[in-house]
Amino acid sequence: MKILNLGSLNIDKVYEVKDIVKPGETILASFYKEYIGGKGLNQSVAIAKAGAEVYHAGLVGNDGNILVEYLQECGVDTKHINSVDSVSGHAIIQIDNSGQNSIIVFGGTNQQINEHYIDNVLNDFGADDILLLQNEISMIPYAIHKAKEIGLKVAMNPSPITDYLLDYPLELVDIFILNEIEGQALTGKKEEEEIIKEMHARYPSAAIVLTLGDKGSVYSDGINEFRQKAYKVEVVDTTGAGDTFCGYYLASVSKGISIQKSMELASKASSIAIQTKGASNSIPDSAIVESSIKEEFAESI
Ligand code: RIB
Repeated sequence: MKILNLGSLNIDKVYEVKDIVKPGETILASFYKEYIGGKGLNQSVAIAKAGAEVYHAGLVGNDGNILVEYLQECGVDTKHINSVDSVSGHAIIQIDNSGQNSIIVFGGTNQQINEHYIDNVLNDFGADDILLLQNEISMIPYAIHKAKEIGLKVAMNPSPITDYLLDYPLELVDIFILNEIEGQALTGKKEEEEIIKEMHARYPSAAIVLTLGDKGSVYSDGINEFRQKAYKVEVVDTTGAGDTFCGYYLASVSKGISIQKSMELASKASSIAIQTKGASNSIPDSAIVESSIKEEFAESI
């Protein structure tokens, strides 16, 4: 089973600030650095680090070689990534003193994906494979329809929220991996139980993996429900935490690991990621994730 991640690739321009800027305010940043990011790219890195076979598809511009090279270093197959004469996607990220962030994404080449490109990429995949999508690229409705025609499973991380997200053919999605805010936006509900109930009502054939910040995460397919705690750690930078969870979870279930164990690995991996600055660079290798779980278990007995 191969995972095809048709997703964004961004250069993250990260500014450390005391407090996130408010409307009308001008503030000084105490630190600036560029990192390799993009929800799509981060999730591909997490999938590769979790040990699954992942193909990243997407577009970069003239400034995007570093993004492709980084994916290759991490073990992601990049043969489907094309380069176009334009500018890559980028994100402007503020990180405050508590490690919380605020992000503006400029789509760049991520928004130039067209039907022809998707057709070409999907030609290499078949019924046993999974298509993973986020919401930072163009032509998502077409990609969902086309993938389902071929018989792929569709996994969707509906992030970031946009006005048009609800117009997508989300009823064709097989698995949603989303956080509480995204769940609220998709369902109009506030509480965890209500969000899950409404997701099942709207998308009855989909499994839901809902992350709840420091309250952990919950899986529900309408019949089975599993819960996973969040690990308590010192937060340095939450950027990419959701991507780490998403990639680790999907990679693990695709390798036949149980849902409960996959959630544990995903939760542990994201708790490690938030202890380091940056996005894709903070995603841990599976050996580190496993040994951290073992250490915690040993300490608890
Ligand atoms: O989820 C974090 C990511 O969101 C960042 O890497 C940034 O590029 C934006 O896409």
